[in-house]
Amino acid sequence: MSYWQELEQKYFMNTVERIPVTLVRGQGARVWDEDGREYLDFVAGWAVNSLGHCHPVITEAVTEQVNTLIQVSNQFYTIPQIRLAELLVQHSCLDKVFFCNSGAEANEGAIKLARRYGKHYLNGAYEVITAMGSFHGRTLAMVAASGQSKFQQPYRPLPTGFINVEYNDIEAIKKATTNQTCAVMVEPVQGEGGVNLPDDSYLTAVRDWCDHTGILLILDEIQTGMGRIGTLFGYEQYGIEPDIMTLAKGLASGIPIGAILAKDKASVFTPGEHGSTFGGNPVACAAGYATLKFIIDNDIAQNAQGVGQYLTAGLESLRHKFQFIIEVRGRGLLVAMEFDSDIAQSVVMACLDRGLLVNRLKPNALRFMPPLIIGNEEVDEALSILDKALSSIVS
Ligand SMILES: Cc1ncc(COP(=O)(O)O)c(C=O)c1O
Repeated sequence: MSYWQELEQKYFMNTVERIPVTLVRGQGARVWDEDGREYLDFVAGWAVNSLGHCHPVITEAVTEQVNTLIQVSNQFYTIPQIRLAELLVQHSCLDKVFFCNSGAEANEGAIKLARRYGKHYLNGAYEVITAMGSFHGRTLAMVAASGQSKFQQPYRPLPTGFINVEYNDIEAIKKATTNQTCAVMVEPVQGEGGVNLPDDSYLTAVRDWCDHTGILLILDEIQTGMGRIGTLFGYEQYGIEPDIMTLAKGLASGIPIGAILAKDKASVFTPGEHGSTFGGNPVACAAGYATLKFIIDNDIAQNAQGVGQYLTAGLESLRHKFQFIIEVRGRGLLVAMEFDSDIAQSVVMACLDRGLLVNRLKPNALRFMPPLIIGNEEVDEALSILDKALSSIVS
Protein backbone atom coordinates (compact mmCIF):
# COMPACT_ATOMS: atom_id res chain seq x y z
CA MET A 1 0.00 0.00 0.00
CA SER A 2 1.40 3.39 -0.95
CA TYR A 3 1.79 6.41 1.30
CA TRP A 4 -1.39 8.02 -0.06
CA GLN A 5 -3.40 4.83 0.27
CA GLU A 6 -2.36 4.48 3.91
CA LEU A 7 -3.41 8.05 4.59
CA GLU A 8 -6.76 7.39 2.93
CA GLN A 9 -7.36 4.45 5.28
CA LYS A 10 -6.58 6.66 8.23
CA TYR A 11 -8.71 9.66 7.29
CA PHE A 12 -11.52 8.56 4.97
CA MET A 13 -14.95 7.16 5.70
CA ASN A 14 -15.18 3.65 4.46
CA THR A 15 -17.73 4.04 1.65
CA VAL A 16 -15.96 2.59 -1.38
CA GLU A 17 -13.89 -0.48 -2.14
CA ARG A 18 -11.07 1.26 -3.94
CA ILE A 19 -8.85 -0.23 -6.57
CA PRO A 20 -5.25 -0.02 -5.28
CA VAL A 21 -4.06 2.62 -7.73
CA THR A 22 -3.55 6.34 -7.09
CA LEU A 23 -4.20 8.29 -10.27
CA VAL A 24 -2.34 11.54 -10.63
CA ARG A 25 -2.70 12.66 -14.25
CA GLY A 26 -4.94 12.18 -17.29
CA GLN A 27 -4.83 13.05 -20.96
CA GLY A 28 -7.38 11.99 -23.56
CA ALA A 29 -8.43 8.40 -22.87
CA ARG A 30 -5.36 7.72 -20.71
CA VAL A 31 -4.46 8.17 -17.06
CA TRP A 32 -1.22 7.69 -15.12
CA ASP A 33 -0.64 6.52 -11.57
CA GLU A 34 1.81 7.85 -8.99
CA ASP A 35 4.51 5.45 -10.24
CA GLY A 36 4.12 6.67 -13.82
CA ARG A 37 2.22 3.61 -15.06
CA GLU A 38 -0.15 4.32 -17.94
CA TYR A 39 -3.72 3.00 -18.21
CA LEU A 40 -6.33 3.14 -20.95
CA ASP A 41 -9.41 4.47 -19.19
CA PHE A 42 -12.68 2.71 -20.04
CA VAL A 43 -14.31 3.92 -16.82
CA ALA A 44 -14.00 7.67 -17.50
CA GLY A 45 -14.97 8.72 -14.00
CA TRP A 46 -18.13 6.56 -14.23
CA ALA A 47 -19.24 7.94 -17.60
CA VAL A 48 -18.21 11.48 -16.77
CA ASN A 49 -15.18 12.46 -18.88
CA SER A 50 -17.13 12.80 -22.14
CA LEU A 51 -14.22 14.48 -23.92
CA GLY A 52 -11.57 12.47 -22.11
CA HIS A 53 -9.15 13.87 -19.57
CA CYS A 54 -8.00 17.48 -19.71
CA HIS A 55 -9.37 18.16 -23.19
CA PRO A 56 -8.02 21.55 -24.33
CA VAL A 57 -11.49 23.04 -24.90
CA ILE A 58 -12.32 22.28 -21.25
CA THR A 59 -9.03 23.38 -19.73
CA GLU A 60 -9.12 26.62 -21.76
CA ALA A 61 -12.74 27.38 -20.84
CA VAL A 62 -12.13 26.64 -17.16
CA THR A 63 -8.85 28.57 -17.03
CA GLU A 64 -10.41 31.62 -18.65
CA GLN A 65 -13.40 31.46 -16.30
CA VAL A 66 -11.39 31.05 -13.07
CA ASN A 67 -9.37 34.07 -14.12
CA THR A 68 -12.57 36.06 -14.68
CA LEU A 69 -15.31 35.16 -12.19
CA ILE A 70 -15.48 32.03 -10.02
CA GLN A 71 -18.70 32.36 -8.03
CA VAL A 72 -21.38 34.88 -7.17
CA SER A 73 -24.83 34.47 -5.71
CA ASN A 74 -27.66 33.36 -7.94
CA GLN A 75 -29.45 36.61 -7.10
CA PHE A 76 -27.30 38.05 -9.87
CA TYR A 77 -27.27 37.22 -13.55
CA THR A 78 -24.15 35.44 -14.76
CA ILE A 79 -23.36 34.85 -18.40
CA PRO A 80 -21.94 31.27 -18.50
CA GLN A 81 -25.11 29.72 -17.02
CA ILE A 82 -27.34 31.60 -19.44
CA ARG A 83 -25.21 30.58 -22.43
CA LEU A 84 -25.28 26.91 -21.34
CA ALA A 85 -29.03 27.01 -20.69
CA GLU A 86 -29.62 28.48 -24.16
CA LEU A 87 -27.50 25.82 -25.84
CA LEU A 88 -29.26 23.01 -23.92
CA VAL A 89 -32.69 24.33 -24.86
CA GLN A 90 -31.71 24.85 -28.50
CA HIS A 91 -30.54 21.24 -28.78
CA SER A 92 -33.20 19.43 -26.73
CA CYS A 93 -36.98 19.25 -26.64
CA LEU A 94 -37.10 21.08 -23.28
CA ASP A 95 -37.72 24.77 -22.65
CA LYS A 96 -36.34 25.75 -19.25
CA VAL A 97 -33.24 24.84 -17.22
CA PHE A 98 -32.19 24.81 -13.56
CA PHE A 99 -28.56 24.10 -12.67
CA CYS A 100 -27.25 22.25 -9.62
CA ASN A 101 -24.15 20.25 -8.71
CA SER A 102 -24.75 16.53 -9.12
CA GLY A 103 -27.06 13.88 -10.46
CA ALA A 104 -28.79 13.15 -7.18
CA GLU A 105 -29.43 16.84 -6.65
CA ALA A 106 -30.86 17.16 -10.16
CA ASN A 107 -33.22 14.24 -9.53
CA GLU A 108 -34.28 15.60 -6.13
CA GLY A 109 -35.13 18.87 -7.84
CA ALA A 110 -37.02 17.05 -10.59
CA ILE A 111 -39.12 15.27 -7.96
CA LYS A 112 -39.82 18.55 -6.19
CA LEU A 113 -40.85 20.04 -9.54
CA ALA A 114 -43.19 17.12 -10.21
CA ARG A 115 -44.72 17.47 -6.72
CA ARG A 116 -45.17 21.19 -7.33
CA TYR A 117 -46.92 20.33 -10.60
CA GLY A 118 -49.07 17.85 -8.69
CA LYS A 119 -50.10 20.57 -6.26
CA HIS A 120 -50.95 22.96 -9.10
CA TYR A 121 -52.69 20.64 -11.54
CA LEU A 122 -53.32 17.18 -10.03
CA ASN A 123 -55.16 17.90 -6.77
CA GLY A 124 -52.01 17.54 -4.67
CA ALA A 125 -50.82 14.25 -6.18
CA TYR A 126 -47.22 13.62 -5.06
CA GLU A 127 -46.27 9.99 -5.67
CA VAL A 128 -43.64 9.11 -8.25
CA ILE A 129 -43.46 5.69 -9.88
CA THR A 130 -39.92 4.46 -10.50
CA ALA A 131 -38.44 1.18 -11.75
CA MET A 132 -36.85 -1.76 -10.00
CA GLY A 133 -33.14 -1.87 -10.81
CA SER A 134 -33.00 1.88 -11.33
CA PHE A 135 -30.36 4.16 -9.85
CA HIS A 136 -31.16 7.81 -9.22
CA GLY A 137 -28.55 8.82 -6.62
CA ARG A 138 -27.55 8.59 -2.97
CA THR A 139 -29.61 11.21 -1.16
CA LEU A 140 -32.29 9.74 1.08
CA ALA A 141 -35.13 10.49 -1.32
CA MET A 142 -33.17 9.18 -4.29
CA VAL A 143 -32.38 5.98 -2.39
CA ALA A 144 -36.15 5.58 -2.01
CA ALA A 145 -36.56 6.31 -5.73
CA SER A 146 -33.86 3.83 -6.76
CA GLY A 147 -35.46 0.40 -6.94
CA GLN A 148 -32.55 -1.56 -5.44
CA SER A 149 -32.88 -3.02 -1.97
CA LYS A 150 -29.10 -3.02 -1.35
CA PHE A 151 -29.18 0.80 -1.35
CA GLN A 152 -32.45 1.06 0.57
CA GLN A 153 -32.01 -1.55 3.30
CA PRO A 154 -29.41 0.26 5.47
CA TYR A 155 -31.50 3.44 5.63
CA ARG A 156 -35.07 2.36 6.31
CA PRO A 157 -37.46 3.98 7.06
CA LEU A 158 -37.23 5.83 3.76
CA PRO A 159 -39.02 8.98 2.63
CA THR A 160 -42.46 8.14 1.29
CA GLY A 161 -43.92 8.93 -2.12
CA PHE A 162 -41.97 6.48 -4.29
CA ILE A 163 -43.46 3.34 -5.79
CA ASN A 164 -40.88 0.95 -7.29
CA VAL A 165 -42.34 -1.29 -10.01
CA GLU A 166 -40.87 -3.82 -12.46
CA TYR A 167 -38.75 -2.19 -15.18
CA ASN A 168 -39.83 -2.60 -18.78
CA ASP A 169 -43.38 -3.44 -17.71
CA ILE A 170 -45.98 -0.88 -18.69
CA GLU A 171 -48.77 -2.84 -17.00
CA ALA A 172 -46.93 -2.49 -13.67
CA ILE A 173 -46.89 1.29 -14.11
CA LYS A 174 -50.57 1.32 -15.00
CA LYS A 175 -51.42 -0.77 -11.95
CA ALA A 176 -49.41 1.46 -9.63
CA THR A 177 -50.96 4.71 -10.91
CA THR A 178 -53.53 6.25 -8.57
CA ASN A 179 -54.99 9.70 -8.07
CA GLN A 180 -51.91 10.36 -5.86
CA THR A 181 -49.48 9.85 -8.77
CA CYS A 182 -47.81 12.96 -10.19
CA ALA A 183 -45.03 11.40 -12.33
CA VAL A 184 -43.15 8.40 -13.63
CA MET A 185 -39.35 8.60 -13.51
CA VAL A 186 -37.17 6.20 -15.52
CA GLU A 187 -33.75 5.96 -17.13
CA PRO A 188 -33.96 5.37 -20.90
CA VAL A 189 -31.34 2.65 -20.38
CA GLN A 190 -30.64 1.57 -16.79
CA GLY A 191 -26.95 2.26 -16.18
CA GLU A 192 -25.85 1.26 -12.67
CA GLY A 193 -28.62 -1.32 -12.49
CA GLY A 194 -26.95 -3.43 -15.17
CA VAL A 195 -27.02 -1.60 -18.55
CA ASN A 196 -30.58 -2.87 -18.95
CA LEU A 197 -32.19 -2.00 -22.28
CA PRO A 198 -35.97 -1.61 -22.44
CA ASP A 199 -38.09 -3.13 -25.19
CA ASP A 200 -38.47 -0.72 -28.11
CA SER A 201 -42.12 -0.10 -27.24
CA TYR A 202 -41.68 0.50 -23.49
CA LEU A 203 -40.87 4.20 -23.40
CA THR A 204 -43.54 5.00 -26.00
CA ALA A 205 -46.06 3.14 -23.87
CA VAL A 206 -44.93 5.03 -20.76
CA ARG A 207 -45.21 8.32 -22.65
CA ASP A 208 -48.72 7.40 -23.89
CA TRP A 209 -49.78 6.45 -20.36
CA CYS A 210 -48.51 9.75 -18.93
CA ASP A 211 -50.38 11.65 -21.66
CA HIS A 212 -53.51 9.62 -21.02
CA THR A 213 -53.47 10.20 -17.25
CA GLY A 214 -52.01 13.71 -17.23
CA ILE A 215 -49.00 12.77 -15.10
CA LEU A 216 -45.45 13.84 -15.93
CA LEU A 217 -42.71 11.77 -17.51
CA ILE A 218 -39.28 12.40 -15.97
CA LEU A 219 -36.32 10.91 -17.83
CA ASP A 220 -33.15 10.51 -15.80
CA GLU A 221 -30.54 10.99 -18.55
CA ILE A 222 -27.71 11.51 -16.08
CA GLN A 223 -25.82 8.54 -17.50
CA THR A 224 -27.42 8.21 -20.96
CA GLY A 225 -27.35 11.89 -21.93
CA MET A 226 -24.63 13.98 -23.60
CA GLY A 227 -24.07 11.50 -26.42
CA ARG A 228 -23.25 8.49 -24.25
CA ILE A 229 -25.66 6.08 -25.96
CA GLY A 230 -25.17 7.41 -29.49
CA THR A 231 -27.58 10.36 -29.68
CA LEU A 232 -27.22 13.64 -27.80
CA PHE A 233 -30.03 12.51 -25.50
CA GLY A 234 -31.27 8.96 -25.10
CA TYR A 235 -34.94 9.84 -25.64
CA GLU A 236 -34.19 10.64 -29.29
CA GLN A 237 -33.72 6.92 -29.97
CA TYR A 238 -37.12 6.03 -28.60
CA GLY A 239 -39.24 8.60 -30.44
CA ILE A 240 -40.57 10.27 -27.31
CA GLU A 241 -40.11 13.52 -25.42
CA PRO A 242 -39.97 13.79 -21.62
CA ASP A 243 -41.69 16.56 -19.65
CA ILE A 244 -38.67 16.77 -17.36
CA MET A 245 -35.11 15.52 -17.97
CA THR A 246 -32.13 15.43 -15.63
CA LEU A 247 -28.47 15.61 -16.62
CA ALA A 248 -25.15 15.53 -14.73
CA LYS A 249 -22.10 13.22 -15.20
CA GLY A 250 -20.87 14.00 -18.75
CA LEU A 251 -22.42 17.47 -18.99
CA ALA A 252 -19.20 19.31 -18.11
CA SER A 253 -16.76 16.51 -18.93
CA GLY A 254 -15.51 16.20 -15.35
CA ILE A 255 -16.39 19.46 -13.62
CA PRO A 256 -19.25 18.87 -11.12
CA ILE A 257 -22.63 19.98 -12.47
CA GLY A 258 -26.24 18.84 -12.65
CA ALA A 259 -29.25 20.16 -14.52
CA ILE A 260 -33.02 19.85 -14.52
CA LEU A 261 -34.66 20.61 -17.85
CA ALA A 262 -38.42 20.96 -18.22
CA LYS A 263 -41.08 21.71 -20.80
CA ASP A 264 -42.76 25.08 -20.26
CA LYS A 265 -45.90 23.38 -18.96
CA ALA A 266 -43.92 21.57 -16.22
CA SER A 267 -41.71 24.53 -15.31
CA VAL A 268 -43.80 25.55 -12.31
CA PHE A 269 -41.27 26.67 -9.69
CA THR A 270 -41.72 30.23 -8.49
CA PRO A 271 -38.99 32.34 -6.80
CA GLY A 272 -37.79 30.87 -3.52
CA GLU A 273 -39.27 27.40 -4.09
CA HIS A 274 -35.99 25.83 -5.15
CA GLY A 275 -32.35 26.86 -5.19
CA SER A 276 -28.68 25.97 -4.85
CA THR A 277 -25.72 28.06 -3.69
CA PHE A 278 -23.30 26.61 -6.23
CA GLY A 279 -25.85 25.63 -8.87
CA GLY A 280 -25.05 27.40 -12.13
CA ASN A 281 -21.52 28.17 -10.94
CA PRO A 282 -19.74 30.09 -13.72
CA VAL A 283 -16.75 27.70 -13.90
CA ALA A 284 -18.94 24.59 -14.11
CA CYS A 285 -21.20 26.22 -16.68
CA ALA A 286 -18.26 27.39 -18.79
CA ALA A 287 -17.03 23.78 -18.80
CA GLY A 288 -20.56 22.58 -19.62
CA TYR A 289 -20.88 25.01 -22.49
CA ALA A 290 -17.48 24.01 -23.90
CA THR A 291 -18.39 20.31 -23.59
CA LEU A 292 -21.82 20.57 -25.19
CA LYS A 293 -20.59 22.85 -27.98
CA PHE A 294 -17.77 20.46 -28.80
CA ILE A 295 -20.09 17.45 -28.74
CA ILE A 296 -22.55 19.17 -31.09
CA ASP A 297 -20.00 20.74 -33.47
CA ASN A 298 -18.03 17.51 -33.84
CA ASP A 299 -20.96 15.09 -33.81
CA ILE A 300 -19.46 13.21 -30.89
CA ALA A 301 -22.74 11.34 -30.32
CA GLN A 302 -22.37 9.86 -33.80
CA ASN A 303 -18.81 8.88 -32.93
CA ALA A 304 -20.09 7.18 -29.76
CA GLN A 305 -22.57 5.26 -31.88
CA GLY A 306 -20.01 4.10 -34.46
CA VAL A 307 -17.22 3.30 -32.01
CA GLY A 308 -19.81 1.76 -29.69
CA GLN A 309 -20.88 -0.64 -32.43
CA TYR A 310 -17.26 -1.51 -33.05
CA LEU A 311 -16.72 -2.12 -29.33
CA THR A 312 -19.86 -4.24 -29.05
CA ALA A 313 -18.83 -6.32 -32.08
CA GLY A 314 -15.39 -6.89 -30.52
CA LEU A 315 -16.93 -7.91 -27.20
CA GLU A 316 -19.27 -10.27 -29.05
CA SER A 317 -16.22 -11.95 -30.65
CA LEU A 318 -14.82 -12.46 -27.17
CA ARG A 319 -18.14 -13.96 -26.12
CA HIS A 320 -17.76 -16.52 -28.87
CA LYS A 321 -14.24 -17.27 -27.71
CA PHE A 322 -14.96 -17.53 -23.97
CA GLN A 323 -17.99 -19.59 -23.09
CA PHE A 324 -18.30 -18.11 -19.62
CA ILE A 325 -19.35 -14.78 -21.19
CA ILE A 326 -23.11 -15.09 -21.42
CA GLU A 327 -24.16 -11.71 -22.77
CA VAL A 328 -22.94 -8.44 -24.24
CA ARG A 329 -25.49 -5.61 -24.22
CA GLY A 330 -25.59 -1.85 -24.49
CA ARG A 331 -26.00 1.17 -26.68
CA GLY A 332 -23.35 3.56 -27.93
CA LEU A 333 -20.50 3.68 -25.46
CA LEU A 334 -22.44 2.25 -22.52
CA VAL A 335 -21.89 -1.49 -22.78
CA ALA A 336 -21.97 -4.40 -20.34
CA MET A 337 -20.45 -7.89 -20.50
CA GLU A 338 -22.05 -10.52 -18.29
CA PHE A 339 -20.41 -13.73 -17.05
CA ASP A 340 -21.93 -16.98 -15.86
CA SER A 341 -20.23 -16.60 -12.45
CA ASP A 342 -18.89 -13.90 -10.11
CA ILE A 343 -15.54 -13.29 -11.79
CA ALA A 344 -15.92 -9.60 -12.60
CA GLN A 345 -13.55 -8.39 -9.88
CA SER A 346 -10.83 -10.82 -11.02
CA VAL A 347 -11.23 -9.60 -14.59
CA VAL A 348 -11.03 -5.96 -13.46
CA MET A 349 -7.76 -6.72 -11.65
CA ALA A 350 -6.35 -8.75 -14.55
CA CYS A 351 -7.12 -5.80 -16.88
CA LEU A 352 -5.58 -3.37 -14.41
CA ASP A 353 -2.35 -5.39 -14.37
CA ARG A 354 -2.24 -5.07 -18.15
CA GLY A 355 -3.02 -1.33 -18.28
CA LEU A 356 -6.78 -1.14 -18.81
CA LEU A 357 -9.37 0.35 -16.45
CA VAL A 358 -12.83 -1.25 -16.61
CA ASN A 359 -15.74 -1.10 -14.18
CA ARG A 360 -17.15 -3.97 -12.17
CA LEU A 361 -20.84 -3.38 -12.70
CA LYS A 362 -22.00 -6.38 -10.68
CA PRO A 363 -20.17 -9.40 -9.24
CA ASN A 364 -20.79 -11.12 -12.59
CA ALA A 365 -20.65 -8.17 -15.02
CA LEU A 366 -18.35 -5.49 -16.37
CA ARG A 367 -19.29 -2.09 -17.77
CA PHE A 368 -17.41 -0.20 -20.47
CA MET A 369 -17.97 3.57 -20.62
CA PRO A 370 -14.88 5.18 -22.17
CA PRO A 371 -14.59 8.84 -23.17
CA LEU A 372 -16.82 9.56 -26.17
CA ILE A 373 -13.91 10.87 -28.24
CA ILE A 374 -12.10 7.53 -28.55
CA GLY A 375 -11.56 5.81 -31.90
CA ASN A 376 -11.43 2.19 -33.03
CA GLU A 377 -7.68 2.04 -32.25
CA GLU A 378 -8.31 2.49 -28.53
CA VAL A 379 -11.06 -0.11 -28.71
CA ASP A 380 -8.66 -2.56 -30.40
CA GLU A 381 -6.13 -1.95 -27.64
CA ALA A 382 -8.76 -2.46 -24.92
CA LEU A 383 -10.07 -5.64 -26.57
CA SER A 384 -6.59 -7.08 -26.86
CA ILE A 385 -5.92 -6.45 -23.15
CA LEU A 386 -9.33 -7.83 -22.19
CA ASP A 387 -8.71 -10.94 -24.28
CA LYS A 388 -5.44 -11.58 -22.42
CA ALA A 389 -7.07 -10.84 -19.06
CA LEU A 390 -9.93 -13.26 -19.76
CA SER A 391 -7.46 -15.92 -20.91
CA SER A 392 -5.55 -15.52 -17.64
CA ILE A 393 -8.76 -16.08 -15.70
CA VAL A 394 -9.48 -19.33 -17.51
CA SER A 395 -6.00 -20.78 -17.13
C1 LIG B 1 -28.89 7.39 -13.95
C2 LIG B 1 -28.23 8.05 -12.78
N1 LIG B 1 -28.92 8.92 -12.05
C3 LIG B 1 -28.37 9.56 -10.99
C4 LIG B 1 -27.08 9.30 -10.60
C5 LIG B 1 -26.48 10.00 -9.41
O1 LIG B 1 -25.57 10.96 -9.84
P1 LIG B 1 -24.53 11.60 -8.79
O2 LIG B 1 -23.61 10.52 -8.37
O3 LIG B 1 -23.86 12.70 -9.57
O4 LIG B 1 -25.34 12.14 -7.65
C6 LIG B 1 -26.31 8.37 -11.33
C7 LIG B 1 -24.94 8.04 -10.92
O5 LIG B 1 -24.39 7.02 -11.25
C8 LIG B 1 -26.91 7.74 -12.44
O6 LIG B 1 -26.23 6.84 -13.17
